[in-house]
Amino acid sequence: MILRDLIERKRDGGRLSDDELRSVANSAAAGSVPDYQLAALLMAIFFRGLDGHETRALTTAMLGSGQVLQRPAGAPPWIDKHSTGGVGDKTSLILAPLLASVGVTVPMMSGRGLGHTGGTLDKLESIPGFRTDLSLARAAAQLERIGCALIGQTAEIAPADGRLYALRDATATVECIQLIAASIMSKKLAEGLTGLVLDVKRGSGAFLPELDRGLELARTMIALGEAAGVPVVTLLTAMDRPLGNACGNALEVRECIETMRGNGPADLWTVTEALAIEMLRLARPTITAEDARTILLDALHSGAALEKFREIVAEQGGDVRCIDDPGLLPSAPHLADVRATRSGVVQAIPPRPVGHAIIALGGGRTSKDDVVDPAVGVVLRVRVGDAVTAGQPLATVHARTSVALAAAIERLRGSVAVGDGAPVNVLPWVSHRITSTGEELLGP
Ligand code: URA
Repeated sequence: MILRDLIERKRDGGRLSDDELRSVANSAAAGSVPDYQLAALLMAIFFRGLDGHETRALTTAMLGSGQVLQRPAGAPPWIDKHSTGGVGDKTSLILAPLLASVGVTVPMMSGRGLGHTGGTLDKLESIPGFRTDLSLARAAAQLERIGCALIGQTAEIAPADGRLYALRDATATVECIQLIAASIMSKKLAEGLTGLVLDVKRGSGAFLPELDRGLELARTMIALGEAAGVPVVTLLTAMDRPLGNACGNALEVRECIETMRGNGPADLWTVTEALAIEMLRLARPTITAEDARTILLDALHSGAALEKFREIVAEQGGDVRCIDDPGLLPSAPHLADVRATRSGVVQAIPPRPVGHAIIALGGGRTSKDDVVDPAVGVVLRVRVGDAVTAGQPLATVHARTSVALAAAIERLRGSVAVGDGAPVNVLPWVSHRITSTGEELLGP
């Protein structure tokens, strides 16, 4: 394969063959092609797209760049969930233990922060000692023992996505339906799943903000799942404002622990519960949504979900004392509030400025080799639609240095919009349910 020729052909609107896409994935995984050529190809795909056949071929090639987990014959259902990413989007940390605590096996392979969004792996690694780079053999043994493993790509698992994901992050080529679909589905299909729930975000903080693009992404991923024999249910959820209050790695872990204690923010639970019900119904297709909800609430309120989280943290080398005493999680030395400059009603809390502020604080990456600061972030103190008075705290910034603190406060001051009591339009937290057989509108 001469990569330059493929770049040129895609740049000019041509098609890539299955063999060529396989060579791209394999050489990306092997590190035998330079970043600059892969980045150029990604940009050509970004502008020219891939047709349905190319998207399937790229997904299969990325999946085939590594090994796959094998579900033992007769094992309980293996179900996972994946989100297209957002700010404050921390549902995976709750869903995995919650579902495992009710007997569903969850082999969850997640990503790192991408663009302005946070990543599950970065959040988990803010727990001191927590390892996400498990070998496939160790993940399989853990799945059998405790029903859940929270892992990332290694050289063994979907390694092509590992390389392409980091390059897309650094080259502004994330927002492409076919690349997102191939990235997510190559990882998910490597997990040996019997069912998958996807959380496709829409709204200004989503990679694909518009409803029609979110729906197209959902349909593309459902088709990829069906072609591989994996049933996929997709929910469209809101990312026109951050989910929950905490945004930033350790801060989000802390909020997840509170949620598993039954004390989390209502919006976070609304989205988590909707996804959890779909996961449980994929595992047990004969139960009703109401039955699923009862089972899940029991697991939450009995403490079973938190107990399972404790088991996962212990298995993966994390400091379990953080669960009872979240004060042991990394914390930032400099805190200060962003305050309202006028009285009025909170009109909008756009996720992107919050995500960019976290990156500037060191809590995300500007280049693929950056080390993430687990302690920093932003905790929202108000919601869209709240009435506020001048001087009231809107958010608290957690920073490593006083200089970073001042810069983040300055950056966020203009972002949380306070205006006169005009009607506030926000998206419903969960608006659409899409499967291979059709689409259902759930919210207004
Ligand atoms: N999540 C992924 O795993 N990949 C993407 O491209 C976007 C979100």
